[in-house]
Amino acid sequence: MKLALGFVLILFLCSLHGRSTAQSCVDEAFSGNRSYSSCSSLPYLNASLHWTYHPSNASLDVAYRALQSSSGWVAWAINPTSSGMAGANAFLAFPNPTTGATTVFTTPISSTGLIPSDVADGNLTFAVYGREAEYSSAGGYYTIYASLELPGNDTQQNTVWQASTTFSDGVPYGHRFSGDNVLSLASLDFSVQGGGLTN
Ligand SMILES: *[C@@H]1O[C@H](CO)[C@@H](O)[C@H](O)[C@H]1NC(C)=O
Ligand SMILES: *[C@@H]1O[C@H](CO)[C@@H](O)[C@H](O)[C@H]1NC(C)=O
Ligand SMILES: *[C@@H]1O[C@H](CO)[C@@H](O)[C@H](O)[C@H]1NC(C)=O
Ligand SMILES: *[C@@H]1O[C@H](CO)[C@@H](O)[C@H](O)[C@H]1NC(C)=O
Ligand SMILES: *[C@@H]1O[C@H](CO)[C@@H](O)[C@H](O)[C@H]1NC(C)=O
Repeated sequence: MKLALGFVLILFLCSLHGRSTAQSCVDEAFSGNRSYSSCSSLPYLNASLHWTYHPSNASLDVAYRALQSSSGWVAWAINPTSSGMAGANAFLAFPNPTTGATTVFTTPISSTGLIPSDVADGNLTFAVYGREAEYSSAGGYYTIYASLELPGNDTQQNTVWQASTTFSDGVPYGHRFSGDNVLSLASLDFSVQGGGLTN
C-alpha cells in the first residue's frame, strides 16, 4: 500500500514537472476575482484550460490561457459534432488591427477551407452567456474568459485549440499545419478533476 502511494506520488510529481514548460495549473490568478474548480494543463501550445461546470443550468465557465506574443492570436474551441477544426465553435483572441485592443470573436468554423471573411464574429451552435479576453504583457499570455451552454449538457466534449501570428484583413487567418498545431485537440470530461484528457 505504502509502495503504491509512493508510486502515485512520484507520478504526480513527474506530471507537475512535465507541466512546467507549458502554462501550468498551479498559482494562476485571474482578473475580476474569477476562480475555477478544475484545470487541465493542455499538452501543446503552452496552454491551460480552467473551468467550472454548473449542472443546475448546464453551463460551463472557462478560462483558456495560452502563451503568445501580443501581436499573435490564440483560439479555443468546442467541437460538438466532430473533432478537430471542421465543426469547431471557436473563441478567438487577437489584437484589434486599428486600436490594438484585445478582441474576442465567437466564430463557427464549418470547414478547414476557410476564407478570411469566414473569420467573423458570429453565433455559435450553443449559447454564449459571456465572453472576454485580455492580454498580459507581464505574463506574455492571452486569457479568454467565457460562459457557455455545454452542448447537450454533455460533460464529455471534443476540444481544439490553436495559435498563430498570421492575419488576413485584420482577422486571425492561417496557422502551421504540422507539429503541435495539428496535435492540439483533446476530449475532456468537464465533470472530472483535470478533465481526464484523452486524444
Ligand atoms: C512552449 O512549449 C514548447 C513545446 O512544448 C516548449 O518547448 C517551450 O519551452 C514552451 N515555452 C515556454 C515559454 O514555456
Ligand atoms: C473574491 O472572492 C473571494 C472568494 O472567492 C471572496 O471572499 C471575496 O470577497 C471576493 N472579493 C471581491 C472583491 O469580490
Ligand atoms: C445536466 O446534467 C446533470 C448530470 O447528468 C444533471 O444532474 C442536470 O440536471 C442537467 N442539467 C440540466 C439543466 O438539464
Ligand atoms: C448557472 O448557475 C450558476 C450557479 O450554479 C451561476 O453561478 C451561473 O451564473 C449560472 N449561469 C447562467 C448562464 O445562468
Ligand atoms: C445571431 O443571433 C441573433 C439572435 O438569434 C441574430 O439576431 C443575429 O443576426 C445572429 N448573428 C449572426 C451573425 O448570424
